[in-house]
Amino acid sequence: MIYGVISDVHSNLEALSAVLSHLEDFEVDGWICCGDIVGYGPDPNACLDRIRALKNLSVICGNHDLAVIERLELDWFNQYARAAVLWTRGTLSAENRVFLEGLTARLETPDFTLAHGTPRNPVEEYLLSPLQFRDNVPLVNKWPLFVGHSHMPLLFRFADGDPEKVDSRFLDDTEETLPKISGGGMAPAALNPGSVGQPRDQDNRAACGLYDSSKGTFRVFRVPYDIAGVQAKIRAAGLPEYLALRLAFGQ
Ligand SMILES: [Fe+2]
Repeated sequence: MIYGVISDVHSNLEALSAVLSHLEDFEVDGWICCGDIVGYGPDPNACLDRIRALKNLSVICGNHDLAVIERLELDWFNQYARAAVLWTRGTLSAENRVFLEGLTARLETPDFTLAHGTPRNPVEEYLLSPLQFRDNVPLVNKWPLFVGHSHMPLLFRFADGDPEKVDSRFLDDTEETLPKISGGGMAPAALNPGSVGQPRDQDNRAACGLYDSSKGTFRVFRVPYDIAGVQAKIRAAGLPEYLALRLAFGQ
């Protein structure tokens, strides 16, 4: 199976459209979405409509999705994120609200595991360090683990199969061959495809991934999109100016 992997779309329809059309060229069999579909950006309903229509979709919610449906305190967020959550609450369709209410922040399938942040704290913890990866390994049954939340394309795996040595890296568009256990199943590896709608690694192109479960490979792609168009929509919606500016800087 070939999966298109997306995360942290954040209501950015232009970025979402760009990555979906890029990934569709690979004849994707199914889709993985690691949460934070809404928040920050100006098109929550259009993004949810596109994602809900994806075939064989495995999807979880993120902290912004939960805040929009009033299941996470606003105190958790900075002033810009909070303003966008409140704006999105007033914009979200009843149908899309019901969809978000049906999502969990962690999901295990026969082929992989999803957690927005980490398996032990899927809503809040950012998976950023080798020690965090090691601590979360016992909590996962099905590898690889796909995460989002940090908005950065990242890989964590044990180096040379040694559970005391973790290989952790930013991912570019090089195809990674993921580790396997002796019986042929997938060994521990955590993958973040980066953020579709608000990249924070100072590369302002939309990020996404492609997972081939037969070959055991994962590859990140960066896709240009109409940043100025999204900035104009953010301003027209009355969302904070900072949310428009940061898109151009990839931060
Ligand atoms: Fe996010």
